[in-house]
Amino acid sequence: MRVGSVALVGAGPGDPGLITVRGLERLRRADVVVYDRLVDRRLLDEAPRARRIFAGKARGAHALPQEQINALLVRHARRGRRVVRLKGGDPFVFGRGGEEAEALARARIPFEVVPGVTSAVAAPAYAGIPLTHRGVASSFAVVTGHGCASERGRPVDWARLATAVDTLVVLMGLERLAEIARELVARGRPAATPVALVRWGTTDWQETVIGTLGDIATRARRARLEPPVVAVIGDVVALRDRLAWFDEQTLPLGAVR
Ligand SMILES: C[S@@+](CC[C@H](N)C(=O)[O-])C[C@H]1O[C@@H](n2cnc3c(N)ncnc32)[C@H](O)[C@@H]1O
Repeated sequence: MRVGSVALVGAGPGDPGLITVRGLERLRRADVVVYDRLVDRRLLDEAPRARRIFAGKARGAHALPQEQINALLVRHARRGRRVVRLKGGDPFVFGRGGEEAEALARARIPFEVVPGVTSAVAAPAYAGIPLTHRGVASSFAVVTGHGCASERGRPVDWARLATAVDTLVVLMGLERLAEIARELVARGRPAATPVALVRWGTTDWQETVIGTLGDIATRARRARLEPPVVAVIGDVVALRDRLAWFDEQTLPLGAVR
């Protein structure tokens, strides 16, 4: 039997219209789609013939362990199928897509990576926040806010990051927000630095809470904010006052002007 192939496809950040043309094309030809929790289910309708397998990982509870997901991709491809591994945002941005690609390479399964629009840039964009802006910010970094054991045990070096880049984008940082904000202030970021928390960015449920490093954790708690959230830290957040094109409304407690 001829071996099939796997496409690691970025589904985009939420709005199904933000998948790439190539991603959509791979989806339409798929025999099997293995998809994650944050993927908009409407995208699955683009693969009407395909078998759908949910591999989603809710926080704290893994629907399928990573090794089983890897094995699943290899198994279906070995049976000659065109497999699409549909992942939220971009497959190689905190999505463990690299590990899946490694497993496919080891098993000698032909694979390709179809990049996606990452929530790291799309959620800020939909909240009216450019990550760089002439005269305001000329650099940004995207980091995980997970605990120290994240990304194979490599902790984020907050001390070095605090003042190394103009804009910080934190994924998966809501749980440790207070700790992260304290650490950044202790390492030299002013407590008055603006912060935006964008929840469910690019979707109809998008919410934005605005504050400063000094008070954002309290504001998030009061707003009862839940993941998924992208945090943007830096002076560019203030541009939202003029550029909030998608949702003009922040939560009642959110606005600090
Ligand atoms: C495991 S990471 C995957 C990131 C994904 N690969 C990407 O490029 O966007 C999941 C985290 O991404 C962020 N995220 C994903 N989609 C989001 C959205 N629509 N709005 C806000 N945050 C989102 C949240 O921080 C969430 O906890």
